[in-house]
Amino acid sequence: MSAEIKNKIDSLTQELKEHTYRYYVLAQPTISDREFDQKLKDLETLEEAYPQYKDPNSPTSIVGGEVTKEFNTVRHDTPMLSLGNTYSKEELYDFDQRIKKLIGDDFEYTCELKFDGFAIGLKYREGKLVQALTRGDGVQGDDVTTNVKTIRSIPHLLVGNYPNEVEVRGEIFMHRKAFEKMNRDREASGEKPFANPRNSAAGTIKMQEQTEVAKRPLDAFLYQVIGDEKEFRTHGGSLEKAREWGLPVSNELRTVKTIEDVWGYIESWDEKRKELSFDIDGIVVKVNNFSLQHDLGFTAKSPRWAIAYKFETERASTRLESISYQVGRTGSITPVANLDPVLLLGTTVKRASLHNADVIAELDVRVGDIVYVEKGGEIIPKIVGINLDLRPQNAQTTEFIHVCPECGTELIRKEGEAAHYCPNESGCPPQIKGRVEHFISRKALDIDSLGEGKIGILYDSELVKNPADLYDLNFDQLVGLSKTIVNEETGESRLISFREKTAQKIVDGIVASKNIPFHRVLYGLGIRFVGSTVAKKLANHFKTIEALSVASFEELVAVDEIGEKIARSVLSFFAEDQNNDVIQRLKEAGLQMEAEKPEDLVSNVLDGKKIVVSGVFNTFSRGDLKKEIEKHGGKNVGSISAKTDFVLAGENMGPAKLAKAEKLGIAVISEDDFIAMING
Ligand code: IVH
Repeated sequence: MSAEIKNKIDSLTQELKEHTYRYYVLAQPTISDREFDQKLKDLETLEEAYPQYKDPNSPTSIVGGEVTKEFNTVRHDTPMLSLGNTYSKEELYDFDQRIKKLIGDDFEYTCELKFDGFAIGLKYREGKLVQALTRGDGVQGDDVTTNVKTIRSIPHLLVGNYPNEVEVRGEIFMHRKAFEKMNRDREASGEKPFANPRNSAAGTIKMQEQTEVAKRPLDAFLYQVIGDEKEFRTHGGSLEKAREWGLPVSNELRTVKTIEDVWGYIESWDEKRKELSFDIDGIVVKVNNFSLQHDLGFTAKSPRWAIAYKFETERASTRLESISYQVGRTGSITPVANLDPVLLLGTTVKRASLHNADVIAELDVRVGDIVYVEKGGEIIPKIVGINLDLRPQNAQTTEFIHVCPECGTELIRKEGEAAHYCPNESGCPPQIKGRVEHFISRKALDIDSLGEGKIGILYDSELVKNPADLYDLNFDQLVGLSKTIVNEETGESRLISFREKTAQKIVDGIVASKNIPFHRVLYGLGIRFVGSTVAKKLANHFKTIEALSVASFEELVAVDEIGEKIARSVLSFFAEDQNNDVIQRLKEAGLQMEAEKPEDLVSNVLDGKKIVVSGVFNTFSRGDLKKEIEKHGGKNVGSISAKTDFVLAGENMGPAKLAKAEKLGIAVISEDDFIAMING
């Protein structure tokens, strides 16, 4: 147990050190702030419980990056700390409670924007900018003075009544427009564009050639004056002074009395931030009075008197690298956008669905475009727009593929359907494997011992090409089969092999599936448009696979909720000999091909009677009437045909229906007649 915990602490420590390095030194993070913060919190919790395993250089006690080799390393006069942060209102209110416990409730907060850039400390001596240091590891940073001097908004000389020596700290960032233009230029010269303004600001300040830095439009806001407490009484006041010395200070700072006011400021900026010309990633809340700040003090890495409330990003922009096409089990072709990985709401997004040819045409999305990605309700994010300003000049209109990427068969597109299909049902590998995978899936035959890529192995070994083949498998054939599976997302490879235990589980799972009820077997057959609800309807209505397989179009559409599209699909499924062969073999293997009698069958008085319910009733609701019909062995049908036994009519039954019943000579009975019938 303790070895396990030590391992966990070691691996989290190592992982976080790597991410910190990627973020601060390389300016190329691969996980989101949120993921990082969560991991840091996990590590902190573990370290608190098991301090004996804590690394003395743990990322939980060190502020951030480290110094880069190319610049002079200089020690900060005052350590350059980070801020505690949160994404939740509750934790913000906890912060308020903690402060009140320590200093009572007579104090003010300042609320400020949290600029999403790169921290910098500027030292002015006798009004002259003498040094600009990056945060580095918080204790010592890189001297990037020459680069910082290229930033127009940072004065080389202060004006007015400035102190003899002062350090001001703030954030260097890039405006979104400038960032976009810079990316366009990079692209024109064949360089890879930056993913977001923060990364490009950080990347720029670390450049070695000052002339290059000067070409990149950086800006800055300063948010902290390090100086003598007595000189300025409050944080807000000190920033006012800094503004008077000619330093860039944001106008958006507000001083408030309560945490409710703080929350109001946060809420208003969560909306308004989209209108800003630069990115902010949250709001920083600080106790305004310096002597109270002093009383509150610091933890190992951050001040107790401040907290950052972070917003989540909802939309990301990234480059469309390529479009690939996936073939589903029914042969439908789905275009997929392969994206330059981008962080969005806590996860790295590499792919987005493009749905079909119409969606591609409507968006006019082209390889090379910078696209906007959002996460909707779906698991796979979607492309919601394109930044046309950034379209590469040579970007080609996307032409949908004409042949199947898996088997080379010419694709077809049916009237009125959005998707393209590969018609090679019996020879296209993903369709064959997909059908078997569907058959064993949870809502169908639920053979979970065959999950996780095992069907691929059985297909590659030529043991399984259709669901019926599963029931011919035996233990000896399975033992020893293996395959290396590569996870496309992570690139990790994994060897899947069937040991004796696995083989036995598979055999047992297959045997158990013989008890799965008929409607799930029917769903498992994978008839296009026959989902689990439709399968249930068909199974309840036709009772046996034989009856369903010979049902006519009219009989099919007469079933409640079965439309023409489904009926045609069922007919074409049973028109294929191959499908009937599979069904025959499944039946011989002992699968359920008949609906069980409903358990709550009350009587047989309506046995097999096809009944249409229409109009409004007094005693029963229409739904209840339908249930009553089934309880007494009858069948609900949707529309009146020659095969209808009778129409159960309530008030307001449509005149057309009544006329049809009369014309076909079908009895029309009332609710009272019906009640008498089932009771007697
Ligand atoms: S105050 C003792 N105010 O966010 C630390 N920081 O996640 C004082 N930041 O390290 C920092 N806007 O790099 C402060 N208005 C603001 C800020 C701000 C952006 C950055 C800064 C800080 C980091 C914390």
